[in-house]
Amino acid sequence: MDLVELEEQARQLLPQGVYDYFAGAAGDELTLADNVDAWDRIRLRPRVLRDVSRVDTSATVLGAPVRSPIHVAPTAFHRMAHVEGEDATARGATSAGSLFILSTRSTSRVEDVAAASGHGVRWYQVYVLQDRSKTEEQVKRAVAAGFGALVLTGDTPYLGRRLRDVRNAFEIPANVGTAIAEASGTGIIDQAADVTFDDIAWLMELSGLPVLVKGVLRGDDATACIDAGAAGVVVSNHGGRQLDGAIASADALREVVDAVGDAGEVYVDGGVRRGIDVVRALALGAQGVLIGRPVLWALASGGAEGVRRLLRALTHELVLAMALCGAPSIADISRDLVFS
Ligand code: FNR
Ligand code: LAC
Repeated sequence: MDLVELEEQARQLLPQGVYDYFAGAAGDELTLADNVDAWDRIRLRPRVLRDVSRVDTSATVLGAPVRSPIHVAPTAFHRMAHVEGEDATARGATSAGSLFILSTRSTSRVEDVAAASGHGVRWYQVYVLQDRSKTEEQVKRAVAAGFGALVLTGDTPYLGRRLRDVRNAFEIPANVGTAIAEASGTGIIDQAADVTFDDIAWLMELSGLPVLVKGVLRGDDATACIDAGAAGVVVSNHGGRQLDGAIASADALREVVDAVGDAGEVYVDGGVRRGIDVVRALALGAQGVLIGRPVLWALASGGAEGVRRLLRALTHELVLAMALCGAPSIADISRDLVFS
């Protein structure tokens, strides 16, 4: 699937301000661009003469079986992309056999998303809010709705400064603001700035669920998360939307994987656009990858079916990439495939 074309379709459908909010990033968008470039810099050492008559992309996420290691990153405000909002995205993820991670900034109720997601694997992304009783309430609803893990986003004590939004004087449309308030009882920028490693245990206790930390770019931070009880981390710079000039996630992955070792699972997002990028990520030791913006483009242009098609198309690219690397199963994607 041509993701440039997919984005272009969405751009034509969306108001300019909404498109720019989704597409844009912080500052000069250096990290945004580097996220894509850094995957491209990783070259592979394919194996020959392996039996790749059958290629199997099935994987697990914290032990739960999924059909592909390609998953949906938590992104905000899906109702700005499509009237069915996160319900549609969750349906698309389930029909593709991928994990769906629901953002705290959802415009659909967590219970409705759970119903839409059905038998699919779903996790809940947590922004700790200034009013922590609201976070407690949201987490309890997510637990009751069958979300299997919490993903604590650690890179957003304040929102990064996105110059496109400044230029556009972008504001969340009123109907979307209402949907957020109804869905989750929150406003738009009420994140706490005092969240620390101690909050991992707080969330584990509150929910009884495994907690992963998203936004980790350093080995020492990954170790601190695991020591504090985290089940894993997501290597991410928030799609370049937070600290412009932050290292690309592809460049951070190896150090984090080596720090975590067998003590947890490592996921990665940011600039993953091709099946071959998934091979690169898994070869460096990621358990799976998360897709941000392309899912929003697919949602905007095709609803749940668009999301399903995108995830299946990326998985088909992965199948070919695995076959050409001589790696017929996910377990065969090991670090020796990476040239360094
Ligand atoms: C995000 N991201 C994000 N992350 C998170 O933890 N909670 C959130 O609510 C959001 N919201 C959000 C909105 C939009 C419009 C974008 C583009 C991103 C970050 C997201 O989970 C992920 O880290 C990046 O999007 C991955 O990069 P790519 O795939 O977009 O390059
Ligand atoms: C963003 C927030 C909502 O990146 O995570 O826009």
